Amino acid sequence: MGNTTVMDHPLIKHKLAILRDKNTGTKAFRETISEIAMLMCYEATRNLPTEHVSVETPMGTADCEVLSGKKLAIVPILRAGLGMVDGLLALLPSAKVGHIGLYRNEETLEPVEYYCKLPKDVAERDVIVVDPMLATGGSAVDAITQIKKRGVSHIRFMCIIAAPEGIERLEREHPDVDIYCGARDERLNEIGYIVPGLGDAGDRIFGTK
Ligand code: PRP
Ligand code: URA
Repeated sequence: MGNTTVMDHPLIKHKLAILRDKNTGTKAFRETISEIAMLMCYEATRNLPTEHVSVETPMGTADCEVLSGKKLAIVPILRAGLGMVDGLLALLPSAKVGHIGLYRNEETLEPVEYYCKLPKDVAERDVIVVDPMLATGGSAVDAITQIKKRGVSHIRFMCIIAAPEGIERLEREHPDVDIYCGARDERLNEIGYIVPGLGDAGDRIFGTK
């Protein structure tokens, strides 16, 4: 696989089982999405650059490392991406947050954009785009195209469950984007849902069905 990392951590696997369960209610579903996002953020930020600093401890001088390089922005794809934001902010509290509103036309499965508000200085930041589901890949490809138009040069995409079709399309259309997914599922069904997946992520996070 190209630039795609599939998570291989027991805690993420355990929490994915809770998410997938059709009997998991809205509160537990929302909490679990956030927890998985936090664990994935830990993995996805593994290669952030650091620089050496000296820190005075009560006992002497310690050679430490702190984050260097560009600041970060988190961009959830509305609605379902919102469920992942708190988990990332817990680890990256100074990241700014932009929003892109997209929904899939249920017949064509093509994304329809209805909102885009990004931090003013987004071009100077590295961006992490988040959406729990990467199905056909249309929404992620479109969101990333919009973000690139604003001059952003380094983008990571983080999703909880991905279909092979979505990974392939995103790798093809944005080969420079690093993709992180919690799981790579079997396939899409005839109406563009991931199988076995977890159903409609937005509806399960917000209790709209
Ligand atoms: C879902 C999901 C992704 C998109 C994935 O959103 O959260 O954004 O579908 O499908 P794709 O890869 O085929 O584009 P949906 O359109 O249902 O909107 P919602 O988040 O408002 O529920
Ligand atoms: N969007 C979802 O919420 N679930 C899927 O399985 C596919 C797209």
